[in-house]
Amino acid sequence: MSHTISNYSQLIDMDKLPQHIAIIMDGNGRWAKKRFMPRTFGHRAGMSSLKQVVETCSELGISCLTVFAFSTENWKRPHDEISYLMSLLVEYINKELKELHQNGIHIKVLGDYRNLPPASVQAIDKAVQKTAANQGMVLNIAINYGARDEIIKAVQQIATQVKQGQLEPEDINEYHFKRFLYTAGLPDPDLLIRTAGEMRISNFLLWQIAYAELWFSPVMWPEFNREELLKAIWEFQQRDRRFGGLNVDGQGDSYA
Ligand code: IPE
Ligand code: IPE
Ligand code: MG
Repeated sequence: MSHTISNYSQLIDMDKLPQHIAIIMDGNGRWAKKRFMPRTFGHRAGMSSLKQVVETCSELGISCLTVFAFSTENWKRPHDEISYLMSLLVEYINKELKELHQNGIHIKVLGDYRNLPPASVQAIDKAVQKTAANQGMVLNIAINYGARDEIIKAVQQIATQVKQGQLEPEDINEYHFKRFLYTAGLPDPDLLIRTAGEMRISNFLLWQIAYAELWFSPVMWPEFNREELLKAIWEFQQRDRRFGGLNVDGQGDSYA
């Protein structure tokens, strides 16, 4: 597959866009280190990539974009880095909310954000409330998010329903279960992008990515941009998605 093509926007099939793109925005620290700068400098630079990606997805008409901003495991990082990330979130919302709202973007949060610093909770609440009725792209910000934590919380709620006699164990199925996830009501991601060359999932959307196409980019998040995103979408469109069945010409594999 050629990687020399420079203008992916002309190649993309607008009728075959992914409905939901999920992104693990990774590599801020390494990007900064390479420039002899503190890790926080990388996080700040990553904000402009986020802005570009949100704008591009919204312009393309993608219905849902999910970005991994802070994981349940990221609490292991130094206190200063955590505080910086929390204040960046507040800054992002303060700077961008007006424009996001004008573009009809509906902001949602994946993760238990109630225990974050009060300024972060307030900013998130403001963004969620202001954009709640918007009909454009759903922007999910995963913050203090971990897929195992999400699944455990769903199990607890389902167990409570069973205990209270509202539900029989045999009535628990996939459709019932996913209503208790943070992504309730949204389509599963069909394209998952991770930047910075790491080929792992790091506890992101484990349930929802069962059949997502995975795209790993070597580009550090602060350098990820519109063109890189379009390239990922184009690569997605070259994939043969079979969902366990056979492809359109009835062959189980494309080399048959
Ligand atoms: C991603 O960049 C941002 C967060 C995880 C919050 P990293 O901070 O993980 O950057 P690297 O992976 O150390 O380069
Ligand atoms: C995943 O990146 C979390 C976010 C992007 C928010 P990490 O940098 O935390 O993942 P690991 O530690 O490399 O697996
Ligand atoms: Mg990382």
